Amino acid sequence: MTSEARVRLPLSGQRIVLGVTGSISAYKAADLASKLRQAGAELEVVMTPAAVQFIAPLTFQSLTGRDVVVDMFSAREAEAHVEVARRADALVIAPATADCMANLATGRTPDMVTLTALATTAPVLIAPAMDNQMWAHPATQANVATLRERGAEFVGPNDGRLATGRMGAGRLAEPAEIVGALLRLLGLQRGDLRGRRVVVSAGPTHEPIDPVRFVGNRSSGKMGFAIAEAARDRGAEVTLVAGPVALAAPYGVRCISVKTVAEMLCALDEATRESDALVMAAAPADFRPATPADHKLKKEPGQQRMMLELTKNPDILASLPGGGVRVGFAAETQNLAQYARAKLTEKRLDFIVANDVTAAGSGFGTDTNQVTMFYAGGEVEELPLMTKYEVAHAIWDRVAERFGTNA
Ligand code: PMT
Repeated sequence: MTSEARVRLPLSGQRIVLGVTGSISAYKAADLASKLRQAGAELEVVMTPAAVQFIAPLTFQSLTGRDVVVDMFSAREAEAHVEVARRADALVIAPATADCMANLATGRTPDMVTLTALATTAPVLIAPAMDNQMWAHPATQANVATLRERGAEFVGPNDGRLATGRMGAGRLAEPAEIVGALLRLLGLQRGDLRGRRVVVSAGPTHEPIDPVRFVGNRSSGKMGFAIAEAARDRGAEVTLVAGPVALAAPYGVRCISVKTVAEMLCALDEATRESDALVMAAAPADFRPATPADHKLKKEPGQQRMMLELTKNPDILASLPGGGVRVGFAAETQNLAQYARAKLTEKRLDFIVANDVTAAGSGFGTDTNQVTMFYAGGEVEELPLMTKYEVAHAIWDRVAERFGTNA
């Protein structure tokens, strides 16, 4: 059977309202607006008059293609002051000043941002930004506690250099973190994997030859990270065990960094004890140098060859007793179906996701992948070329079906 291709962005079909208040970090809200749009959101922006002192509404109008509401009395749309709130699937306030949070905590609505927050039933994500002493002040902390108690989610503020030149907690969370926090929040509200604990592996392993060299492979970790992010976006509690990769840890995912197969096995053994599903997208080395040197190996004068003796690594999937629904990958360059079916049985999997790593747009380092699923019952399902994030959702769709039948 062949499935239809479909474009799936993390925020496709979601109406997000971004509230911008008057902080020097308001300029970062333009990047955030752009990232929310790139993630597929239908975005509307509301601003306080103070925010307009820092960044022009035209910037957000250009980024969203929609009018930006600042003055609740001059809005073109009748009842705009509450309609924006009613349309929202989520409200993100970034940056949120101390004053904004004080108004939110006391239910005051002097501007469009606080008014939207009071008039919406949608989840609210707050990204504070201010001087570190303002953040630490008991009044601010009491307002944060009140808002948390009422169900608001917070992302940041981060530690670092502040506009005043001081170091401390008060920096606006990075736009990518805010998008991650929003996706997690929406997943926890209505994702089909809520309450499920899932474990994902990603990336290569580096098996040391000596302190400066290793045996590795071309895995970038993109496939595994996409699988972890998609699970988070569907509300799962995610543990990601990753080999050495150059990717930022996804927000809201518990990340464990490992280097070797031995470390990956140890981390996965621990993580899968209570898990509902394990998806093994990592590319662990099948062999490792038998006797890694404890000093840098030097070439002798005139030396033309060097022999490296390798010894077998444990098969992680085969060694792990459970993990819940078990999904493996098969990275092949030939005889894809034959090798994938053999691994499906040997590794006791519910299904295996096979990719031809020599095919254009597939395999190592790409943002897309074309995969074929082989199921324990014998069925085969070939999927079209999709983004790795879409492949990740296709995997979770099938894992969720199994949760449904096994529940
Ligand atoms: O990271 P990217 O750049 O995005 O690339 C993605 C990918 C090509 C790495 C990914 O799509 C993929 O195919 N991952 C599996 C790579 C691999 O090791 O395949 P394999 O056919 O050699 O192994 C079969 C399965 O056994 C895999 O689930 C693997 O994680 C697992 N395995 C392998 C060796 C080992 N010692 N222990 C294992 O558990």
